[in-house]
Amino acid sequence: MTRKTIRFGVIGCGLMGKEFASAAARWCHLTGVDFEPRITAVCDANPAAAEWFKAYVPSVTKTTTDYRELLADPDIDAVYCAVPHNLHADLYIDIIRAGKHLLGEKPFGIDRSANDRIMAEMAKFPDVLVRCSSEFPFFPGAYRIGEWVREGRFGKIIEVEAGFWHSSDLDPLKPINWKRRIATNGEYGCMGDLGMHVLHLPLRFGWQPNSVRALLQKTVDERPDGKGGNVPCETWDNAILACDVNNDLGKFPMVLSMKRIAPGHANTWFIRINGTELSAEYTTKNPKEIRSLPYKPGGEQAWHTLDVPYQSAYSTITGGIFEFGFSDSILQMWAAFCDELVNRDHMKQPLHCATPEEAAGSHKLFTAALESDRTGQTVHIGGRDSFAASARPTGA
Ligand SMILES: NC(=O)c1ccc[n+]([C@@H]2O[C@H](COP(=O)([O-])OP(=O)(O)OC[C@H]3O[C@@H](n4cnc5c(N)ncnc54)[C@H](O)[C@@H]3O)[C@@H](O)[C@H]2O)c1
Repeated sequence: MTRKTIRFGVIGCGLMGKEFASAAARWCHLTGVDFEPRITAVCDANPAAAEWFKAYVPSVTKTTTDYRELLADPDIDAVYCAVPHNLHADLYIDIIRAGKHLLGEKPFGIDRSANDRIMAEMAKFPDVLVRCSSEFPFFPGAYRIGEWVREGRFGKIIEVEAGFWHSSDLDPLKPINWKRRIATNGEYGCMGDLGMHVLHLPLRFGWQPNSVRALLQKTVDERPDGKGGNVPCETWDNAILACDVNNDLGKFPMVLSMKRIAPGHANTWFIRINGTELSAEYTTKNPKEIRSLPYKPGGEQAWHTLDVPYQSAYSTITGGIFEFGFSDSILQMWAAFCDELVNRDHMKQPLHCATPEEAAGSHKLFTAALESDRTGQTVHIGGRDSFAASARPTGA
């Protein structure tokens, strides 16, 4: 099968920029796809950050510290931009204006007004594909839950819980970085960092919150500055958002949590759905297992635990009995972005990357959550009608 090559520029050569390069380097892992990325240019404000790309990514022919130079290159079709949150709006807008397709990182703007600016620019360039990075729904267990929701297997939804929990910030000696400062990470704190991952599937399923009561928490007040002193650690560490969903799909509570200080959890993403006909839960803590409890009136209630096969959105050379991991989910997400870029409405499977409208929905919720925590009140958001409609049909 001939594969269409998509020429990529990467802006931001840190943690996530390298994850993309690693996924692109093992594209041969995927089978039956008619598209592939080639990273030809990279940009980082810190020239040392691009050195890794020069050493390990032979397709890179251009490195620069000025992203405008990268955007001026007519031989670049698309851009992956993974920079601190305070830069999202300016850089995403310039990328879209340059006519480059964009996979941007969450939270897609440091705050709601930055997100509004991105959305306004996007509307002027309807042919530019813009998507937001969010890889966890590509874990086979999460993918299967998406299929079950699409098939209407849960019956009436009773309640939903979803979360993303870390524990790296439990260590008070961990030095400060841009993700712990309001100027660079935003007032949302852990919500901006972790929240889109938590919201991606609920929003895709049509479960936009009608209201939120938020409990936000700061546990570590200051951190080492790396120069022998301490500086304030300004951002929210943990957030618990008690939401209600109330639309034609049902009326039920949905508890979303984002925690940077959750002892014992390294990178735990989970979703639990209780329904009248099926309950199911999946957590990356036990990445192979999916638990489900089918129920028929009067019948027994028994949890089933399945070692879910290695089977995500796109088929691979890996056998079904092997394990799936974080870097596999990144590869699958990138396949979905490239698939959509090449095949648009005729993608090979239904799970597309998070849309800008979904990212905008996360801003709506986080802004309301800040207000709720400030006032101690439940804040009305307005449910599905008040969330921007996605340009794509729904479906997991
Ligand atoms: N999808 C995920 O699972 C995931 C995980 C971590 C981070 N992220 C997101 O990725 C983005 C980047 O996070 P990261 O962890 O890679 O951060 P990072 O600090 O490792 O990398 C950011 C890079 O951006 C560079 N940079 C700063 N200003 C720049 C500019 N003006 N032009 C070009 N480069 C510039 C920095 O020098 C740095 O190398 C954030 O939006 C974050 O929320 C996503």
